[in-house]
Amino acid sequence: MSIRRFLLVSVLCSAGLTGQVLAQVKSGLPDPLQRSNGARITTVAEWQRVRRPELIELFTSQVYGRSPEKPAAMTFHVFDTDPKALGGKATRKQVAIYVNGQTDGPRIDVLLYIPNRVQGPVPAILGLNFWGNHSVTADPGIRLTTSYLEKSKNNPYVNLDCVTDNRPTEACRGINTGQWPLDSILDHGYALVTAYREDIASDVPATRFSTGVHTVYPDWQKRPDNFGTIAAWAWGLSRIMDYLQSDPAINDKQVAVFGWSRLGKAALWAGATDERFAAVLSNESGAGGAKLFQRGKGESIRRLCTVFPHWYSVNFRQYMDKDTLLPFDQHEVIALLAPRPVYIASAEQDILADPVGEFESAKAASTVYRLFGREGLPVTKLPPLNTSVQGTIGYHIRPGGHDVTPLDWRYFLQFLDRQVRNK
Ligand code: GCU
Repeated sequence: MSIRRFLLVSVLCSAGLTGQVLAQVKSGLPDPLQRSNGARITTVAEWQRVRRPELIELFTSQVYGRSPEKPAAMTFHVFDTDPKALGGKATRKQVAIYVNGQTDGPRIDVLLYIPNRVQGPVPAILGLNFWGNHSVTADPGIRLTTSYLEKSKNNPYVNLDCVTDNRPTEACRGINTGQWPLDSILDHGYALVTAYREDIASDVPATRFSTGVHTVYPDWQKRPDNFGTIAAWAWGLSRIMDYLQSDPAINDKQVAVFGWSRLGKAALWAGATDERFAAVLSNESGAGGAKLFQRGKGESIRRLCTVFPHWYSVNFRQYMDKDTLLPFDQHEVIALLAPRPVYIASAEQDILADPVGEFESAKAASTVYRLFGREGLPVTKLPPLNTSVQGTIGYHIRPGGHDVTPLDWRYFLQFLDRQVRNK
């Protein structure tokens, strides 16, 4: 063991961490197929029965935090149905999820567009949005969010001049359509299902942990394995999946979960923890998402835990400045999706997300896909720009910066057609 690793072991010991974590400290990228006791996993049955739960527990206790079960009192209320939305192209539905069953408690507004042209039940893409359901398309029938809307200045993706007193005005409709190509999603025969991140858990300093699901479990924030906002968003995606399972218009065996950036981090954790998701699309999820920490490139654990202290559990702070020494790494989160299809997308200038680290992570996760007899990532070298490589793990890197573009969606839809819908 190197001196640096020895020091990390000492830090972990003094932090009182479990032997399970300590036993994993060794040199190089951890092998997802190696158990914490050193034994090797050689069969799918062992992976499912032993190693998968072990990794879930490791990432739950050390990184994301422990989320509650589905609340027994939760209810759904379909408050809007328009069979002729978008000029007749889709059926729009809006559903309120009352997290604790109380109409004055936390509420997640779910927006669905279901294509009319195809016979149901249809496959669906579920993704949280950054700026409210009303931002994904200009349809006047969408309920304007009643949750906090951040008026961040100079936002390169959306113009937030329409926001007054942290609430949307009518002018906020459709401000983010560029990242949500609803027409092509519907033309491909997929339903789009979305909800606003702030309905589930707050991302702003003023209301951190004091809105949404965190208000139902206030004591959980006192624990060192508290569920942070990323885990809360993943939890919310699972609650939306609960609803989708009750909607006969949706094929609940073909629901892909999509997310960009911080919401891509949440999409990966949702897919890892909830095997009902048939596939994951992670767009530039970067640090604490798809990228490896051990390369020591791009956003660090210190930056994540200090600029966004609400995203991960308090326990995760113990690993600040230990990125290159971690006894676990994010390729193991991708591996938790096996054998389900997952697509990792990067952008060349998105340096913070370390595109090479995202690619290497997808590559390193492939070992578990191979255990299942699947191809995983079909290449070993970073593909040229604008070239989508697709095995059960898909990947592309495109020119440009941090964004979601029509090209990203073209590849996502192609991948879902091949890997989910037509399987
Ligand atoms: C910041 C953060 C990233 C995150 C991104 C986003 O840039 O450092 O980790 O992915 O915000 O969510 O837009």
